[in-house]
Amino acid sequence: MADIQSIQWFPGHMAKTRRKITEDLKLVDIVAEIVDARIPRSSANPVLRDIVKSKPKFVILNKSDMADPEETAKWTEYYKKQGETAITIDSKNGKGIPKFYSTIREMLKERIAAFERKGMTGRPIHVMILGIPNVGKSSLINRLIMGKGTGKAEVQDRPGITRQNKWFRAQKGFELLDTPGVLWPKFEDPKVGEMLAYTGAVKDEILDLHTLSCGLLELLMRLYPDAVNTRYKTEIHPQDGLQGHEILEQIGRKRGMLISGGEIDLERAAINVLDEFRSCKLGRITLEKVT
Ligand code: G4P
Repeated sequence: MADIQSIQWFPGHMAKTRRKITEDLKLVDIVAEIVDARIPRSSANPVLRDIVKSKPKFVILNKSDMADPEETAKWTEYYKKQGETAITIDSKNGKGIPKFYSTIREMLKERIAAFERKGMTGRPIHVMILGIPNVGKSSLINRLIMGKGTGKAEVQDRPGITRQNKWFRAQKGFELLDTPGVLWPKFEDPKVGEMLAYTGAVKDEILDLHTLSCGLLELLMRLYPDAVNTRYKTEIHPQDGLQGHEILEQIGRKRGMLISGGEIDLERAAINVLDEFRSCKLGRITLEKVT
């Protein structure tokens, strides 16, 4: 998909963010890496594993309300097999938030016990929230700070911490550090760009909507044919091997999206398909499977 490939990836910015993350790791006890549960592979930053080596880290499969629960369970299992902890959260509605605290307490239990032995009871637990743009970092942080009377408490003027750092005081003695800098996804891989575009994580203005919706429809026809047929009242079988534009035409016709001369308004149909997918009108869908 040429348009997606042309999205610029800024190596300079990435290097700066890498440096900043490496510096700030010294300030935290643990790292929470947020990914989009619908595209756990494409929404993960591939260089994080190397950068974060020195700290305990766990994965948050966010937007789990939009993902297929069976696939999310498989992803959780997959991470477990890799020796990683993963939890599922829906930051929009606040589901899974208690697991954030309990998972960290469990992962850091020896460190917390050591603090307590030294009389440092009540020392805040510092968590770095890492994730590519749009994955839900702000939504998660807002959820975590929405405690009784805590409001949107930003932590200011901590000694040794520059002002650019965004610290937030969460509930239960936790303090959160938002991703320092912008953590870009791996745009060099066109598949990654496509997945991010399908889910709306990258701006539509820089993409060809027709190509995008055709790509999405071909993928959905392979993964969730029933969801497409139910939503658009079509009767397409994956074995028919229809191309994206043919599926889009059928959808446009079914929806009565016509322009003068009886032609199908493909642009309108394309926007409609993307909007409906992104607002879960086709159901809870995971675009990337474990294998
Ligand atoms: P960021 O800080 O990582 O860039 O992401 P942010 O929290 O701004 O979230 C990006 C979009 O994803 C927002 O939607 C947000 O509401 C949505 N979002 C975040 N977490 C979840 C989740 O767990 N479930 C669902 N369904 N959506 C989530 P938006 O369209 O940009 O804004 P709005 O809909 O909140 O107005």
